[in-house]
This record gives sequence, C-alpha cells and structure tokens, in this order.
Amino acid sequence: MKNKLFLILALLMPSLVVRAGDINIIPMPQDIVAGEGYFPLTATTQLAWNGAEAKQTALFFAEKLKTATGREIKIVKLKKNPQKQLSKGSFITFTIDKTIEGDEAYRLIVTPERIQASASTGSGLFYALQSLLQLCPPDIENQAPLKTSATWNIPAVTINDAPRFPYRGFHLDPCRHFLPVAAVKKQLDMLATYKINKMHFHLTEDQGWRIEIKKYPELLKYGARRTEAEGNIYEGYYTQDDIRDIVAYAAERHIEVIPELEMPGHELAAISAYPELSCRGDSITPRIIWGVEDIVMCPGKEAMFTFLQNVIDEMVQLFPSQYFHIGGDESPRKEWAKCPRCQARMKELGYTREAQLQDYVIERVSAYLATKGKRIIGWNEILEGGNLQRDAIVMSWWSEEGAIAAARKNHQVIMTPSSHGLYFDHYQGDPINEPTSIGGYAPLEKVYSYNPIPEELRGTPSEKLVLGVQANNWSEYTLGPAQLENRLYPRALALAEIAWTQPEKKHFRDFCRRLDGDASLRLNAHHINYNIPQPEIPGVSSNRLAFTDRTKITLTTTRPMSIIYTTDGTTPTTHSKRYTAPIDISRSCQLKTAVILPTGQIGNVRTISIQKQTCSPAAKIKTAQPGLKTKIYYGKVRKPDDIKRISSSKDTIINHLEQLRTFTHVSPDVRGVEDYAAVAEGYINIPADGVYEFTSTNSQIYIDGALQIDNSRVFAPRDTRQNLELALSAGYHKLKVVFIGGIFGGWPTYWNDAKLRFRPSRGEWTDVGENMLYH
Ligand code: ACM
Ligand code: ZN
Repeated sequence: MKNKLFLILALLMPSLVVRAGDINIIPMPQDIVAGEGYFPLTATTQLAWNGAEAKQTALFFAEKLKTATGREIKIVKLKKNPQKQLSKGSFITFTIDKTIEGDEAYRLIVTPERIQASASTGSGLFYALQSLLQLCPPDIENQAPLKTSATWNIPAVTINDAPRFPYRGFHLDPCRHFLPVAAVKKQLDMLATYKINKMHFHLTEDQGWRIEIKKYPELLKYGARRTEAEGNIYEGYYTQDDIRDIVAYAAERHIEVIPELEMPGHELAAISAYPELSCRGDSITPRIIWGVEDIVMCPGKEAMFTFLQNVIDEMVQLFPSQYFHIGGDESPRKEWAKCPRCQARMKELGYTREAQLQDYVIERVSAYLATKGKRIIGWNEILEGGNLQRDAIVMSWWSEEGAIAAARKNHQVIMTPSSHGLYFDHYQGDPINEPTSIGGYAPLEKVYSYNPIPEELRGTPSEKLVLGVQANNWSEYTLGPAQLENRLYPRALALAEIAWTQPEKKHFRDFCRRLDGDASLRLNAHHINYNIPQPEIPGVSSNRLAFTDRTKITLTTTRPMSIIYTTDGTTPTTHSKRYTAPIDISRSCQLKTAVILPTGQIGNVRTISIQKQTCSPAAKIKTAQPGLKTKIYYGKVRKPDDIKRISSSKDTIINHLEQLRTFTHVSPDVRGVEDYAAVAEGYINIPADGVYEFTSTNSQIYIDGALQIDNSRVFAPRDTRQNLELALSAGYHKLKVVFIGGIFGGWPTYWNDAKLRFRPSRGEWTDVGENMLYH
C-alpha cells in the first residue's frame, strides 16, 4: 500500500525522484551521489561568479544557453557575503574555492534551490560546467536556438570529481590529409566537453609541411603541396594566424595544443623545399605514398640544426605549451651510414652506431628547446640511442613496451599504444562496413577496456610516471573531417573515460547506455558524423552470399545494440523486425539490416544479397596446360578500360598469381616505376561441388565469364570489400584476373600480394595455387 502511494506520488510529481537515466555524464565522475528533486532552470535563473576565471566559465555557459535557446541569462558578481543575494532568486554559482584539492578537480552540487560549481582553478570550474551541461537536456548542445521556453529540470546531485591522469590527449595529423581550421575547432569544442585537455598537432611530414614559417617561405611553396599519382595537386597549410586562432580557441576550452616538429625522419616535405637538409641534397618532391621514407635529415650538417632552431624559434612563439613534440619515430639510418658528413660527425663524437646520431639530434634539439622553457616529448624510438636525457617524455606507440622501458629509466610516459586500441585510424568493426583504413582492429570495447597503466608498472612507484593517455588519428586513409569524425567518435568518448575515470568506476555496459541514450543526441546536435556500428556476420566479411539449399544468417554487433532487419527489399524502419535469433533463409533475398539506438535513431543500413544458386557447371575442355596465359601491357593504366589504349603487349604464362606483380622493378620509394597492367586468363580447377567464398585485392576477377570482384573503383585497393560466394561444380571454370600496377590513394598495388584466395563453406582460406590454374 505504502509503495503504491509512493508510486502514485512519483507519477504525479515526477520531479521529485532523480532517475538513474537522468545522469549520463561522460567521463564518469569519481564520486556522484544522486539527490532528490530537480533544479528548474528558467528564464529568471541567474549566473553568479567570484573571480575572473569563474566569470569566464559563467560567460561560457551563458553563451551556450544563448546559442541553444536564444535566452540571455543574467550574469552577476557574487557579493562578499552572498547569503542575502542568493536567497532572492534562482542562482547557479561559479566560484573559485582554493580549498578544493587538485588542479582539475571540482565540486558540483545541484539542489532544487541552487546549483553550485566550485574548483580551485579555472580548469576545474570548466569541468564542473561540462558535467553540469551533461545534466542539462541534450538540447543545450543545439547549434541554433530552439523555439521553446520550456523549463529545464536539472537532477539534484552532488559530484566530487578529479581526473585519474593529467594528460588526456588526442592527436591530429593534417599532413597526409589536411583539416581546415573550422574542422579542428569543431573537434576541440566537442572533445573539451569530455574533459580532454591536450591536442597533439602533428604538423610536418614526408607528405606535407603544414605550418607557415616566415623565415622559410619555400616550405609552403614546395613542401605544402604534392602531385598525387591520380594527377591532382593536394595542398593545404595553416598560416601563423590560423595557428594562433586554433591555440586560443583550444585555450578557452582548457586544451593545451602541443605542436610536433618531426625530426630527423618524416621530413621529406621540408627536404623538398630545402634539399641541403638531407645527406645527399636530394632534389625531390613530397612523398605521394604512405609508409616510411628512407631520405631523412642529415645530422652531419650544421645546416640541419640551424634550420630546426629557426623553425623552433617561430613555433615557440605560437604554442605556449610547456611541451614540444620532436617526433623521432621511423627514421631509417641507411643514408647516414653512407654519408661522409654523418660518418665524420660520428667519428668526432666517438660514436660507433648510427642510432647514437639519433640521440645526438634529440639531445641538441631538446637542449635548444630547454632554453625556450620547453620539455620534449618524442615517440618511443627516441629511447633507441640509449642515452636519452632524463626529462624527455616518451610516447609509447608500438605497444606498452616503450613505456615500460622508459619508466624503468625514470622517464615520464604517455600511453598511445597501437596494440591496445589507441590508434583510431584502425578499423572499429568489420571492414565490410567501413571506409578503407590502414588496418588494425580497435573497436569501442577494446579502447574502453584499456588501462593506461601497464600491468608491469601497476602498484610500483613507476606508475606515477604515466602522465596519461592519447589516441592518434593518422590520416593516410582519413580523407577529411567527415571521416575523421567517424573514426574519432564515439571512441574518443571511451578515451575520455579511460583517461579521467578510475578503473573501478568503469563499466562498459553503463558507458554504452550513456553513449547511446544521451551522448548520441549531443553529438547529433553538433552534427558530428559519429560511427554507429552496423550488423556483422560472424566470420564472414561479405555482402554477397550464396547457398544451395537453405541457410541461416547470424547477426552481431561490436557492442550491445538492437538490430532490425527486413528481407523484402524495403529499408528497415522502427517498425521492422528485431533480430533475436539466426534468420532462416530458403529463397534468394536482400537482407537489409541496421542497428537502432534507444533514441529510435537508425544507423546506416547494410544490404546483403543472399542468393540461392545451383552449382554452375564446369567447362568441358579436353586438355589443359598448367598456368594462365598472361598479357602484360606496359604504360599508365588507371582502370581496366585504359588497357584497350595500349596496343602492344608481352605474352607469358604464369603459374602463380603472385607473379602478376613482378613485371617491373619496384624501388622502396616506388619512384620512377614503369607501370603496367597484366591480364591472366585460363581456368580455375574447382576441387568439389560447393559454395566457395573468393577474395582478392587485384583490380578485377572474372569467373565463368562474369565480373565477380571489382576493386577497380575503390579508393585504395589495399584490401577488398568485394568478397563473394559462388556455388560451383567440380571441374574447370573460366578465370580472368586483371592486375593494375600503380599508386591508388597513396597505396602502391605492387605492395598487394596479387593472390586470389578461396574457402569452401566458411572453412579455411587457401591461396588459389599452381595446382588449380590451367589454360
Ligand atoms: C607513428 O605512428 N609513426 C608514431
Ligand atoms: Zn648525412
């Protein structure tokens, strides 16, 4: 009876009880106690502040409120003794309170009468505000005023919060593909919401120099543009004004921008502008393929140090950060071994290994940076010389090993291991559902489950050396802002939680609840192109399936989500069937499937063609010779049709498909390669009747005279989205394989294996080998 009465009361006055679903803060605060009731944010609510930084925070909130609702909220200064002032109205107070311990810690108390945000610093107060914003309805994130004057009820709660790590970073690479200033600012704005506080800005690369340095104008003229294999000129750079604009915008959001000036490798764009920087004074242009470049700067030359110091002189004026990232990764030493100047330098210094020259560069440059008040950060290779100065910070990117080795030598470390999901250029689900990526696998749960303190350091004094964690967003295959957002969100929210929240407070399911129910609406309000997983078929990465009798389709998602589907060709809607068990299929159909969020939002629809087939008959041939008849067409070919324009060809027989990529000499930098196409024709001898799945990175595969795999239109044919299943009878089937040699989307197809692979009935993958190819 009592319960019933309570229920009725609760229904009549819903504002009394704070529901668990009302609190959706990401990252999860350390200590949060739900209260009773709601604070009504109305047209008469006022903001009150004490101190300049508190005023900044109040203004930030007022600005957001105005953007989202058109409402101007009154902002007042708190009186010395504010009791009387506050008793006269509805107030949200922002106060600097030096008794709160921790640079970024804060306290946020919401009661039906008042909201109090306090912290000992502006940063802490900014984070109190971010938590408050996430207690407001998602409409607070609207980018254009709502036509409503509704009261917002903010749930009563007491939060005492502080970050686990002082370094909570994300990295951007505008070098491979450029990011306009507006796109950078958009991410700063969004990520500040999640209490991210560092942006590592990777500004110089083999493929492009992206920052104006007034002393070296040729850097922009020659280093900031490249003529890609496709023939287009790709260019872009930030002026010094752009940089100042970005840095100031970040600072308003308590994000420190850390510039990276790569050295001594990854600097071909600078060498293109100033050839004297390399050992051999190479006359060269920025690199148009991805991967590691052998031409690096020459530490045997004083000119290299003069250049770096002059560049640093201008960069430190632009970036007030206490840190300066000097790169240091992937710098081959082949040129140094052959260079008289490098060898003379080694002799003069008593070095026996080229790796020591790498140390020499790092040491000289960091000594110079120290005179500017900067501490260096470098990629884990800076440990390789063996003599790294103590205050250098090591960014561990291969794995956790670099961090463990560095911490054992008492270096501070930042965790960004590609092995543990911190490379957001890696796939976040089945590649069939995603744009081409550099590879790897980093689904949301992998990111979320990462603990930035390596197990080897946990519980030891060295764990204090872990400054924090960062996600890297390399852009070889991230062509612009929309793709960046797809890769960054929602994984950056998981990053925020592993960086801020103590591990015992982390729960993946609850994180997903906050993400899919509330954060997704906020991301929508910012027009963020975040990734919503698509249904996957375990073990099968294909949208063209076949069966001969009947089949069952199992669907999953990379994280717990509801799946909807249709099999009648219509687009799934909120009324479509929910997936609960494997789907029985006995007739050819199109399976259209997507996930549906708790908000009703439906993700991108995946269409899978499922065909009932009879095994296509084998060709009747009397005799067959081993291998495929192959024609090689030398000349520029971008697509299969171009082959027709090449009148002469060379004939040969190949026994292995891998031979298709061997008809030219390919240097490591793929410069000056004589391109060609090769077309191999004959038969594939299928061992037994059955359904086979095929995959290949070659341009085209024809089986039984029909084009079955077509990679000729994909951006970078480095992996295939074109797998398909076919029902084939035992025996010979016509086969045609088209290989096109060239660079596509920065990827040389010579780096593919040129194979055709197959597997029967979802079994083991096998290469189509010598024993299967005939003509
Ligand atoms: C890196 O990914 N080369 C640091
Ligand atoms: Zn040299």
